[in-house]
Amino acid sequence: PTGLLTDARGRPLRDLRISVTDRCNFRCNYCMPKEVFDKDYPYLPHGALLSFEEITRLARLFLAHGVRKIRLTGGEPLLRKNLEDLVAQLAQLRTVDGVAPDLTLTTNGSLLARKAQALKDAGLNRVTVSLDGLDDTIFRRMNDVDFPVADVLAGIEAAHAAGLSHIKVNMVVKRGTNDHEILPMARHFRGTGTTLRFIEYMDVGATNGWRMDEVLPSAELIERLRAELPLVQLDPSSPGETAERWGYADAQGQHDPALGEVGVISSVTQAFCHDCNRARLSTEGKLYLCLFASQGYDLRSLLRGGASDADIASAIAPIWQQRNDRYSELRSSLPADTGQGARRVEMSYIGG
Ligand code: GTP
Ligand code: 5AD
Ligand code: SF4
Ligand code: SF4
Repeated sequence: PTGLLTDARGRPLRDLRISVTDRCNFRCNYCMPKEVFDKDYPYLPHGALLSFEEITRLARLFLAHGVRKIRLTGGEPLLRKNLEDLVAQLAQLRTVDGVAPDLTLTTNGSLLARKAQALKDAGLNRVTVSLDGLDDTIFRRMNDVDFPVADVLAGIEAAHAAGLSHIKVNMVVKRGTNDHEILPMARHFRGTGTTLRFIEYMDVGATNGWRMDEVLPSAELIERLRAELPLVQLDPSSPGETAERWGYADAQGQHDPALGEVGVISSVTQAFCHDCNRARLSTEGKLYLCLFASQGYDLRSLLRGGASDADIASAIAPIWQQRNDRYSELRSSLPADTGQGARRVEMSYIGG
């Protein structure tokens, strides 16, 4: 392994996003709409899931190929039993530079109050919590399981108290559904050390009934925000970052670090494929090279078929080297999805 893998567009492999379960206790309409993800939905059987040992083995091989950040996702990752044991195993691994990888988790926060301390103790560095509004009625409607906002806020508090640093909050914005929550959310998290990020509603998967008129372009969102709260644009903190960063300004128009920052993730209106360095490992061990892919590469059969580390590492390399994906950049020039072609995988399965 060289640690220097680049794909067909010159992009390095840096970020590995691992889905640890395809299940979730929420039914956010933009991700797992109730009508589709009902009691008859064919979730993966337990034996299909990668074990913690299998995940750790693959993660070690990806790190040898240059990965520096590992994010656990789902579905809802905290539904996976004893997830802290996986965190503990991953925290032992090292990057090609000999340091521990940046180990993080994206969660809906529902179980975080209970789990934050154990996760921190196991070696988790940081956490990102999804939260689509502060208004309890709107939030309950968006998660579609009547889950109260207070419990997610308690989870964020618990993460702070446990010493998880750089907490981020992700808010998916749908015009007409929760866009009036933008300002209350910004005011709530401003100056708390938690970074709020607004995500453009994406056409991911094949079931969420996405429509462009429900997307609030980030440029418009920033204009709305800065009319009330002065902002200055900040430099990216790392290459290939998903979010564009905006700092809260003081009276002189300078960024005030005590007030913190917000971010916008604009996959629809300002695609960020040109330096996308993210690979995704699905719950059952398929490697996907793009959030919008319809096909992955089965690594589990290698794991379970007795392949050596060297075999698996050399299977992964050409997959990344041939990668040419840039869905978000091509979106507007692609023919409309008629349902006839290959079906895009669901985000709950591939991992957000
Ligand atoms: P940081 O490590 O904190 O920068 O997190 P992140 O932005 O990489 O991950 P997070 O799970 O917080 O994702 C934020 C949003 O960006 C989610 O809606 C993701 O689905 C979306 N996202 C993450 N990576 C990609 C990507 O490569 N392409 C697209 N289109 N969206 C992405
Ligand atoms: N568009 C934008 N973001 C989405 N997420 C899930 N589905 C979508 C979608 N259709 C977000 C979640 C979480 C992150 C991992 O992805 O809210 O914050
Ligand atoms: Fe669950 Fe997150 Fe999807 Fe909502 S967005 S249904 S919380 S996985
Ligand atoms: Fe990367 Fe695909 Fe997202 Fe573009 S659309 S940033 S290639 S995951």
